[in-house]
Amino acid sequence: MTMKKWLLGLPASALAGAVAGLPYKTDTVHYELSSPKLQSDVTLVLISDLHNDAPKNRRAELVRTIRDLHPDLILMPGDMAEEHDHQDHTLAFFRELKGIPMYYSTGNHEQYRWDLTELLCKFQQEGVTVLREEAEEVNVRGNLLEIGGISCRYKMREYSPEEVNRIFHTDHLRILLSHKPDWIDLYRKIHADYFVCGHAHGGQWCIPGTRIGVMAPSQGFLPKYISGVHEVGEGKMIVSRGLVRHYHRIPRLFNNPEIVVLHICPESGQNQESA
Ligand SMILES: [Fe+2]
Repeated sequence: MTMKKWLLGLPASALAGAVAGLPYKTDTVHYELSSPKLQSDVTLVLISDLHNDAPKNRRAELVRTIRDLHPDLILMPGDMAEEHDHQDHTLAFFRELKGIPMYYSTGNHEQYRWDLTELLCKFQQEGVTVLREEAEEVNVRGNLLEIGGISCRYKMREYSPEEVNRIFHTDHLRILLSHKPDWIDLYRKIHADYFVCGHAHGGQWCIPGTRIGVMAPSQGFLPKYISGVHEVGEGKMIVSRGLVRHYHRIPRLFNNPEIVVLHICPESGQNQESA
């Protein structure tokens, strides 16, 4: 092969490589955490950014995977539905998860829908607890948790730390659902144990073999907060890579969707990820 032919073949090879990296598999990622506020182990599933991408076959697989994890509850910090009246698969997904307590706060794709109130009513009818600048106490295996949520307003500065701190009323294990991980400066001023976020879609494209994402909304190129556990003030921020496979026809590359499982135990422990 001549050098010229080899060079001409490069784009095709790159495209083939990229397509091979398309994610048709959803990862399940586990994190081990600990809290002095717990008396026994709890298991929480964190999912975000489904964007209505749950047609029948995929939905069955997602629901089976989540049920097999036997979570005590499910945390969903936004973008579960899509804008422009696309939520039927999401509602069916919630329906098939009924029986597991589900907590949700809005993402940007829901927050600016003209029919937001109606949409949230539909979520509630499917058994989802919608948290809008409010928190709810829940007893999980004898442990008291307080789960709060804030809506995905347009800008972080629309919230004052005082306003967010006011939604909590107990000293139980506090979890805040909030869509955007790039609001980390706000979270540093909030008295909570865990902040759970989505929004970044894992950086959409990753450098093969790494978890380095190329781009995320609000964070730009080479974003920092796209997955994993991050120290934040008094607590930790856990970021989901999200569940949607293609975002507005832009596929993920080398960046599988994921279901996050938080195993929180009473003793001091470590943040470790396992496959
Ligand atoms: Fe999203």
